[in-house]
Amino acid sequence: MTCSLRCENIADTEKIAKKFAEIVSETGAFVCLHGDIGAGKTAFTKLVCKYLDVKQKVTSPSFVILNEYKSGKLPVYHFDLYRLESEGVSTVTDELSEYSEGKILTMVEWAEFSPDTELPFDRVIVNITYLNETEREFDFSAIGEKSEKIVEKMAL
Ligand SMILES: Nc1ncnc2c1ncn2[C@@H]1O[C@H](COP(=O)(O)OP(=O)(O)O)[C@@H](O)[C@H]1O
Ligand SMILES: [Mg+2]
Repeated sequence: MTCSLRCENIADTEKIAKKFAEIVSETGAFVCLHGDIGAGKTAFTKLVCKYLDVKQKVTSPSFVILNEYKSGKLPVYHFDLYRLESEGVSTVTDELSEYSEGKILTMVEWAEFSPDTELPFDRVIVNITYLNETEREFDFSAIGEKSEKIVEKMAL
């Protein structure tokens, strides 16, 4: 199951983020975000947090690797693995896959810096493609039953 959504501008991205937030607020999710620098991984995460009623200011975790937000409808763990490169995720957490247990939302920018074996099996994959200054394509796909259901709902 895949779902491709084209955003003409940030307002379209906000609509997608709202829908995504509504869906994942029921179940939680582990989300791998892929896309070049400036694609919109952090922007999308900020907007999802907005619709999960996160009260804190959401900032890029690129220097701290992990930001946690516990003021919204469910706990949000926002990773950016870019700076880890070959050091591996073990410098911040024993098990990235533990962040998929229970009703929580985990958003991981640059998940490609984690070996697949450290990711939970069941995960949503979001590929963001920069088209021009304001346009983006969001491609949602999933591995596993729970994430498949999330992506099916995104396609409706
Ligand atoms: N349609 C859009 N969707 C997402 N971001 C957009 C869009 N149009 C413009 N932008 C801008 O692109 C930038 C994306 O930056 P950011 O989210 O930090 O990227 P990344 O985390 O992928 O490196 C932000 O300044 C955002 O406002
Ligand atoms: Mg970012």
